[in-house]
Amino acid sequence: MAKRRSVDPKYSMCVQPSFIIGTNNEDGSENFAPITWASATHEDGDQYLFVISMAGTKMTKKNVLRTGVFSANLVSIDMLSLMDYFGSKHAKDGAKNDISYEVVRGEVLDVPVLNESRWVYECEVARTVETGDSTTFFCHIRNIQMDERLECEDIFDIDLTVLDPVIYSGKYHSIGKTLGKIGDFVQ
Ligand SMILES: Cc1cc2nc3c(=O)[nH]c(=O)nc-3n(C[C@H](O)[C@H](O)[C@H](O)COP(=O)(O)O)c2cc1C
Repeated sequence: MAKRRSVDPKYSMCVQPSFIIGTNNEDGSENFAPITWASATHEDGDQYLFVISMAGTKMTKKNVLRTGVFSANLVSIDMLSLMDYFGSKHAKDGAKNDISYEVVRGEVLDVPVLNESRWVYECEVARTVETGDSTTFFCHIRNIQMDERLECEDIFDIDLTVLDPVIYSGKYHSIGKTLGKIGDFVQ
C-alpha cells in the first residue's frame, strides 16, 4: 500500500503529453508555442475530439480564436530545445526565429507544421469552453500525420517508444518501455 499525505489542491499535476501548437498569425507568418494541457474525448461514430486548454492572452490562443485551426505537434525528446525555446519566448516580444526549424504546411488544413514532429494533428475548433482566464478548445481532428515507422494493427497499437514523447509534470520526463496491451495483466 502506498503511504500518502494530503496536500494543497494547487498541486494539480496531470501526467501531461507535450504538444507544440502551430498557428497562423494575422500577417500570415507562423507561430509555435508548447501547450501540455491536452487530452481527447469522443463524439458520435468513430470521431474523436482533441481537447486543449490555453490560459491568458497568449498569441497562440488569440490565433486559434481568430482562425479556428491549428496543428498540434507531438514533442519527442529530440525536440526539447525547440519546445523550451518556444515556451520561453512570447510572440508579442517578436518572431520566434532565434533558432532554426523547418516548417511545412498541413496536408489537409492550412496550418504550420513542424517538420521534426513524429505525430501531428491538424485540428479545427468545434466548441470552446471558458473557465476563468482559460479557454478549452474541443477540436475535430481533420488529419493525423504519423511517423512512417509506426506500424499500427489497430487504433490501440501505437508504440510510444517510437514517438519518444516528452512527458510534462512541471518538469520534463521521458517514458520507459512498452509494458503490454489491454488484457495482458488480467489475472
Ligand atoms: C512545457 C510547457 C508547457 C506549457 N503548457 C501550457 C498550457 O498547457 N497552457 C497554456 O496556456 N500555456 C502553456 N505554456 C505556456 C506557453 O507556451 C507560453 O506562454 C508561450 O510563450 C506562449 O507563446 P505565444 O505568446 O507565442 O502564444 C507552457 C509552456 C511550457 C514551457
